[in-house]
Amino acid sequence: MSFDFKFSTFGEKLEQKGGILDLMKDLGEALNEKNSMRMMGGGNPAAIPAVQSIWKKRTAELLAEENNFNSALVNYDPPSGNPKFLSAVAKTLNQEYGWDLESSNIAVTSGAQTAFFFLFNILAGKFTNGQSKKILLPLAPEYIGYANQGIAQNIFVTLPAIIEKKGKNQFKYYVDFEQLEIHDEIAAICVSRPTNPSGNVLTDQEINRLSEISRSKSIPLIIDNAYGNPFPGAIFTEATPMWDEHIILTLSLSKLGLPGTRTGIVIGSKKIIAAVTAANAVVGLANNNIGQALSLPLVESGEIIEVSQNLIRPFYKERMLKARSYVREAFGDTIPYRLHESEGAFFLWFWFPELPITTIELYEKLKERDVLVVPGEYFFFGLENHWDHSHECIRVTFSQSENIVKEGIQIIAEEVSKAYGI
Ligand SMILES: Cc1ncc(COP(=O)(O)O)c(C=O)c1O
Repeated sequence: MSFDFKFSTFGEKLEQKGGILDLMKDLGEALNEKNSMRMMGGGNPAAIPAVQSIWKKRTAELLAEENNFNSALVNYDPPSGNPKFLSAVAKTLNQEYGWDLESSNIAVTSGAQTAFFFLFNILAGKFTNGQSKKILLPLAPEYIGYANQGIAQNIFVTLPAIIEKKGKNQFKYYVDFEQLEIHDEIAAICVSRPTNPSGNVLTDQEINRLSEISRSKSIPLIIDNAYGNPFPGAIFTEATPMWDEHIILTLSLSKLGLPGTRTGIVIGSKKIIAAVTAANAVVGLANNNIGQALSLPLVESGEIIEVSQNLIRPFYKERMLKARSYVREAFGDTIPYRLHESEGAFFLWFWFPELPITTIELYEKLKERDVLVVPGEYFFFGLENHWDHSHECIRVTFSQSENIVKEGIQIIAEEVSKAYGI
């Protein structure tokens, strides 16, 4: 027997066909079921042997530490996170950056993804006075994972990036400060740094400027540091992390090789952290303890930063340089393309100027040839006006094995060449 249940507006919104659901399904299928698929779509971290052996060793230690093992598995943590973990995060970040964080400035969430769901809906949407507020994303394209997170409709206002062409085959995005307008409807500004999908890293100057704007308007600046400093360190330019009372900084253990533990970290003013803590309790009672328990000694000693700088950064930097060299080989001088500068994260962000097909069509053609990428369209949500550029980009992960990346790039070059009729 089948029932036709009706869903609420929220239920319908969650179900909407949208980037992140399709992406996670494709990613899961490629990683678990379809061995032949070259998975260049998701943001899965690489299995870095030296890092994995640290987590294996820590798992063995945890099994042997009766008290810690029991507290990680048998006990619910408080809804803001494990007290030892929170104080270790505060101590290490204070030492590294001279901040004055207390444990009450920090909350753990079930992955940074969940933190964004909480933050966006706590800050934006409908207010008791009837007003509706939105999150401003000042540098589109921006992370696909934010797109469907608003409980209310259309919670994002997005500003197209300024494009600076560099040489024949490169480009870089910048924030268009001239067009940046903070009116009454803006509840917060949010950026990922490094930016997923483009691998852009907002300069210290840009971040300082955004920070000053948000401070002067008394709205939070949310900085999503899923790939950045001090951990996991998948960042290849100089970029100083920033925190202040009006800044909400999010970190994650995922790109350190622990996405399965679902551990996000939110750093903010006490009022924000109290709200995130309440959301944790309401939605999930408490968080998964395992990621916190595994990483605790490394966070306490600061080793987590060394691992990030000495193992994770060089690994991704090398992968990135190789991937870019495969692109040069495969595309040669004849196929039109531009790559965004690779300043951080795990992605090559291709721009195919005046591509005759949409990148959703290109994605389908590539999928038929067992190459999974993410069409760029998904990263341009919230734009008010049509922008050709939003149909001309794809995101390609270089975190998978070198063979996969090399073959995948070769096939991308072939399909793009066909699309241009070359
Ligand atoms: C920019 C960005 N923010 C947040 C997340 C969410 O990370 P997690 O929920 O695994 O901590 C991701 C995941 O890929 C990401 O790329």
